[in-house]
Amino acid sequence: MPAREQWGTAVRAAAVGALLLGGGAPFAQQAAPPQAAACAACHGPEGRSQNPEIPSLAGQPRTFIENQLVLIREGLREVPAMKGLLDPMKDPELVALAQYFSAQKPAPAPAPRDREAFQRGQALASKMHCGSCHLSDFRGQQQVPRLAAQPEAFLVQSMKQFRDNPAPGRDTIMASALFGLKDADLADLAHFLAHSN
Ligand code: HEC
Ligand code: HEC
Repeated sequence: MPAREQWGTAVRAAAVGALLLGGGAPFAQQAAPPQAAACAACHGPEGRSQNPEIPSLAGQPRTFIENQLVLIREGLREVPAMKGLLDPMKDPELVALAQYFSAQKPAPAPAPRDREAFQRGQALASKMHCGSCHLSDFRGQQQVPRLAAQPEAFLVQSMKQFRDNPAPGRDTIMASALFGLKDADLADLAHFLAHSN
């Protein structure tokens, strides 16, 4: 990522006092809050998912995680696998979880990639301006999630849901971003994003 963006990330993080930054590294070591133990079974060690259907939390923007946790706890976004899990957690515990996972090193992009699908996905993402919200390296910002190196099956499934059946609690902005795209387009986009770092 360009040095200027990296610097911007560090400055923002320092400004909110969110991260204990070691030597300006964007992802710092931080003790896991006790509640994080309940997440690893599905979201993977330190939030790096090893399950193709489940998103990674590591390196997601803090605001995005925080918002989603509140929406999921309140039942406004339905995640059946997490039903009830967040009920006993108060806001400060959700904030601590968001802070912890956003500070973890993101999952590496898996190999191998299909060169043609990757290039088609890259061209589409550029044509559709996905980076205008998700940023040019797809690391996300604020309430916009990270897409880089998310599991491919999760990306396909969540884009289909936005396009065909926008679920309650999900931002309608994504339905218009994907308007008119075919299944094959979504598959190419997902392949490109899953293999981006
Ligand atoms: C039993 C499995 C399971 C457990 C345990 C679990 N999750 Fe999830 N979580 C999921 C699934 C599946 C999704 C994706 C749902 C979807 O496809 O929309 C999800 C989605 C999320 C999202 C939204 C991410 C995104 O990119 O859209 C957040 C944030 C999240 N989980 C946080 C947590 C935290 C924090 C914990 C621990 C307190 C936790 N989850 C425990 C299965 C689980
Ligand atoms: C106008 C801003 C905007 C544009 C353009 C945009 N997105 Fe998004 N995207 C968002 C926001 C905001 C969310 C979070 C939705 C929510 O909170 O329910 C999101 C969520 C997603 C998700 C779900 C990820 C997760 O972890 O839950 C995927 C996948 C995605 N976008 C892919 C894309 C692709 C591919 C494109 C280009 C075709 C694109 N987006 C263009 C704003 C945008």
